[in-house]
Amino acid sequence: ITTLRQTAAHKDILIGSGAINPTYLNDAQFSTVLAQQFNSLSPENELKWNFFHPTQGYYNWTALDRLVDFAEANDMAVKGHGLISSCCNPDYLLNITDPTQFRAAMTEHFNAVMHRYHGKMDRWDVVTEALQTMGGGLNNNTFTKVLGPGYIADAFRIARAADPTAKLFINENLVESYPGKRQELFNLVAGLVGDNVPIDGVALQMHITEIAPIPGVITNITNSYKALGLEVTIAEMDVHTLKKTLVTEIYGNVIREALDAGITDISFWGFTDKHAYTWLAGAKPLMFDEEYNAKGAYYVTHAALTDF
Ligand code: G3I
Repeated sequence: ITTLRQTAAHKDILIGSGAINPTYLNDAQFSTVLAQQFNSLSPENELKWNFFHPTQGYYNWTALDRLVDFAEANDMAVKGHGLISSCCNPDYLLNITDPTQFRAAMTEHFNAVMHRYHGKMDRWDVVTEALQTMGGGLNNNTFTKVLGPGYIADAFRIARAADPTAKLFINENLVESYPGKRQELFNLVAGLVGDNVPIDGVALQMHITEIAPIPGVITNITNSYKALGLEVTIAEMDVHTLKKTLVTEIYGNVIREALDAGITDISFWGFTDKHAYTWLAGAKPLMFDEEYNAKGAYYVTHAALTDF
């Protein structure tokens, strides 16, 4: 049997694992499976603001460099997750209340990381979780408070200027499950496109519970953004239900529908159920078990890629 990346290679499909913390690479089995199966990776937390830029003017690149070096050595793409989110922002930033200074801090931060990894990180989650979890407005985070809703457009403009060659995404959760939130994201993104904000696509997180997306929803989402000239990707898929056969079924259905809908960039939020390596420790949401044996979810994903 070929690996996932071998199957995907001839079809121009990115098949990736997110949630890669570079310390996991010390585990030889982990890094072997990662490099064999996937042609893309993204960091779990290491690119969040506080993790590499905790105080003004101080950057710690050790963790990100290690990921990029690993990817280069194994001929993998790297996605930059994520430039802005409500989580993990340093005190120095949270203390800036002047919009001009705040925007300058964003520009400095984006320039630093996007220049350093220019040509190495080819796509970025510029804004992650702009909307409230259940929908119903923007997250009232520090960005919204200081800059208002326009922070999203600002972020994309700053990112495009920092690296005009990279693809820029808005990353959001649960839109495949909640129709109201789905419409809300669409309105937000259509507004950005209408204002000529440089955005290339929508990254669906797809942290799925046992309530799987209704058949047809992924296709509709993809088509709606295609009509705006945008790409849709799956960025952080995992399936957290303890019903084993349901996990397999959901992986198969989602990946098949996504490929048929024209999605060519699919990443999972990790690949092994080993407790230390998934944010859903205790659940078994991924394609490999704790001992790195391929599970049903792996085989149906492999089959979907093969058939495509
Ligand atoms: O680094 C500190 C450590 O110093 C401290 O001792 C420890 C005590 O709690 O916390 C550590 O930070 C934790 C960090 O992960 C690193 O382990 C944070 O508390 C914890 O909140 C953080 O969780 C991450 C979460 O995002 C919040 O940013 C998860 O690992 C990460 O998997 C998760 O990933 C997100 C994506 O970025 C966006 N989409 C949803 C996805 C799942 O929630």
